[in-house]
Amino acid sequence: MKDKSDDTQETPEAAKHHRGPLFASARSQPVTENEIMRYPWIQDFPQTNDAIYLNAGTLSLIPLPVMEHFIGYWQQWNREGAGNPLHYEAWHERVEQTRASLAAFCGSPQGEEGLHLTSSVSDALNFGLLGFSLSQDATIITSDQEHPALIAPLTALCTSGRSGHIVPYGQGGEDFLDRLEAILKTSRHHPGLVAVSHVSHMTGAVLDAQAVADLCHRYQVRLLLDGAQALGQVPVAPGFAADAYILNGQKWGLAPVGNAGIYINPSLARDDWHPPAYGPSDGFWSEYPASLDGGWTSNRRKLEYGTRAWPTWMAWKDALEYRTQWSNLGFEEHASRLARSLRQAMSTMPNVTLWSPIDAPTATVTFSLAPYTTHQLSQALNQAGIVHRLIGMPIDAVRLTFGPWNHDAARDQVLAALHQLS
Ligand SMILES: Cc1ncc(COP(=O)(O)O)c(C=O)c1O
Repeated sequence: MKDKSDDTQETPEAAKHHRGPLFASARSQPVTENEIMRYPWIQDFPQTNDAIYLNAGTLSLIPLPVMEHFIGYWQQWNREGAGNPLHYEAWHERVEQTRASLAAFCGSPQGEEGLHLTSSVSDALNFGLLGFSLSQDATIITSDQEHPALIAPLTALCTSGRSGHIVPYGQGGEDFLDRLEAILKTSRHHPGLVAVSHVSHMTGAVLDAQAVADLCHRYQVRLLLDGAQALGQVPVAPGFAADAYILNGQKWGLAPVGNAGIYINPSLARDDWHPPAYGPSDGFWSEYPASLDGGWTSNRRKLEYGTRAWPTWMAWKDALEYRTQWSNLGFEEHASRLARSLRQAMSTMPNVTLWSPIDAPTATVTFSLAPYTTHQLSQALNQAGIVHRLIGMPIDAVRLTFGPWNHDAARDQVLAALHQLS
């Protein structure tokens, strides 16, 4: 057994002056010719030469062709004179192409209708949640595996009079539905809101989105699904049965930071969803309002207001097209296969506690390793050049999330690091 002391940790002072490679001892194994034949896209991710990047659940690596387009858009924007009125509207219109690609990729039942782009999931969650018309005594239900970005606005909604419930997410299966229904039954007279993750960022467990939506609607409760971890991991179309569904391009979606969105079910928007914030839509600019109480023509841009990073949103289209281009070679399946085989191997290791469902369709592996603390485990992984994330309450564990850029050696290097520790 290895020494488990913290002696090897770099002091903050030393880290400030650290100029060498991030991981002195560890480099990821070179991709083999055979792997390039089977997974040709791996060559588009040269970033993985320097580290074993297992953190798709936090941020995506950007494939080279998408990166080139992304940079090209910014250059073009500057060349045209970024604020040049001659081109301004054209940039708005180009963003419509992203919306169309997103609708097609998601299999949105109503096309682009209801799809709004935002700059982060936190923005999207706030838009979605604060737009619901909840009664003052509404019951608000969430799970015990939510991101702080959801918990924070829910806490704000649970002001005096409204009650909140936290349902154990578990493995995301039938048990979750039963637990949810038990609470919905008791809160029947106070129709409220269920807001939970479609895919848990803690474990990669997945809810049956359609079944949750059916249940909520049977009890006349609004449903917001946080799909931040879904797009790029699992099909998101079933999530569109919810009243509001969160989309994210910057994690599993291969798009640059600044790409997220929300789908507001058009049937809800017509009668029971009021945007919590407004911005100028096209109508405002063409006609100055005669009075302030007449309203003005609104379109989806009322949620995409202000000067935005149009080139960033445009690059999401390229990321979506990039994914689609490889789909027939098992692109979608590649990362989840690696994760599944790692989970299977870990499940036979006596000192590993696996928090992720072993047969989940997702590419997430959350685990702890006795007798190490999460911090010690994290340090060991850092030294092996394995980029990961720590998961805190209620699970104390390390999370590894595979992306299409990983190859078999990444999984094997994780296993080698764990065997060395055991
Ligand atoms: C499930 C979930 N919801 C919300 C967020 C917050 O996303 P953002 O940083 O884009 O606001 C995250 C980010 O990790 C997440 O995993």
